[in-house]
This record gives sequence, structure tokens and C-alpha cells, in this order.
Amino acid sequence: MRTTPADARTTEDVIDLLRAQHGRIRDLFDQVMNTEGEERTAAFRELVRLLAVHETAEEEIVHPMARRLPGGDGIVDDRLAEEREAKELLSELDGMDTEDPRFLKSIDKLRVDVLTHARAEERYEFDRLKDQFSPAQLKGFAAAVRAAEATAPTHPHPGTESATKNMLAGPMVAMVDRVRDMIRDARDKG
Ligand SMILES: [Fe+2]
Ligand SMILES: [Fe+2]
Repeated sequence: MRTTPADARTTEDVIDLLRAQHGRIRDLFDQVMNTEGEERTAAFRELVRLLAVHETAEEEIVHPMARRLPGGDGIVDDRLAEEREAKELLSELDGMDTEDPRFLKSIDKLRVDVLTHARAEERYEFDRLKDQFSPAQLKGFAAAVRAAEATAPTHPHPGTESATKNMLAGPMVAMVDRVRDMIRDARDKG
């Protein structure tokens, strides 16, 4: 079979993509905790951006489909409660100086919560969902999530981004709305 990089992109499925994002989220938490100064700020901003795209995609694609599984309502309600808690903690962290000692304590709690949440998603949702989507949906949603991530504000290299320090809150909200719109479009067409 002939494949090009472009083909490889369009054949990726959304469950694989979301699972790979769990890995990137884990790595970004490590980066935030093991760096300091502007490097930490940059890693944190990227983490916030990825979490916004990722959780929005799950809320629009994964959780609605998981509700149809046997026992799905209970599983999804638990995951949504975890996501709500994580978002609250994230917005507290968002207003904090990344060098504040309370920041490290809170980010560590958020890390444990988010990674536990991700494991539960993989076990109770991802592993059971692949058969529920058509191949076209798996591809189409992957493309939508990728496109949504590509429209999120890019983060400059550490050391060059102090001017953008205050840009996080506004674009975050706009980005989540945009991600939601793109994914809903793909979902309603699929
Ligand atoms: Fe999630
Ligand atoms: Fe997730």
C-alpha cells in the first residue's frame, strides 16, 4: 500500500491520538515539575493548552459514545466529575506564579488526579470504544482534533515569551470554544 506522510495523518484514529496525548500530558507534567523559571512557565502554558484541547475533544467525542456502553452513564459521570475538579484546580494554578511554592504542591496534586483520570478513561472507555465508531469517524475525528490543536496559540521558545505571559486566560477560552465548534462540525457530518 502506498503511504505518504499526509496519508499517515489521515489514517490515524482518534482513540490512538487521544491515548498519545495522555503520554504528552504526562511528559509535560514532568517538564513543569523538573524545570524552573521561564522554562517552567512555557511548559505549563503548553500543558494548559493541550489539556484544553484534549478534554474538550473527550467531552464532545468520547464521553457521549461511552454513554451507550453497558453501565456507560456511571462511567461517564465519574469521568466528568474528575474533569470538573481538574479544571477547577487548573484555573487556580493559572493565576499563580509558577515559582510560588504552593504552585508545585498544587501541580503535583493535579498531576496525580489527571493521570489517574487518564488511566480510568483508557480502561473503561478507550479500550471499549474502538468498535463503536466507524473507520470514517475514527479518521474524521482525529483530523478535527489535530486541526483544533493546530489553531491553539503556539508557544514561543523559553526565554522569548515574556510578552505573551498575560495572554493565557483570554485565548484559552476562545480556544476551547473553537475546539468545540470544529469537533461538533466533524461529529455532525460523520
Ligand atoms: Fe478526560
Ligand atoms: Fe483523557
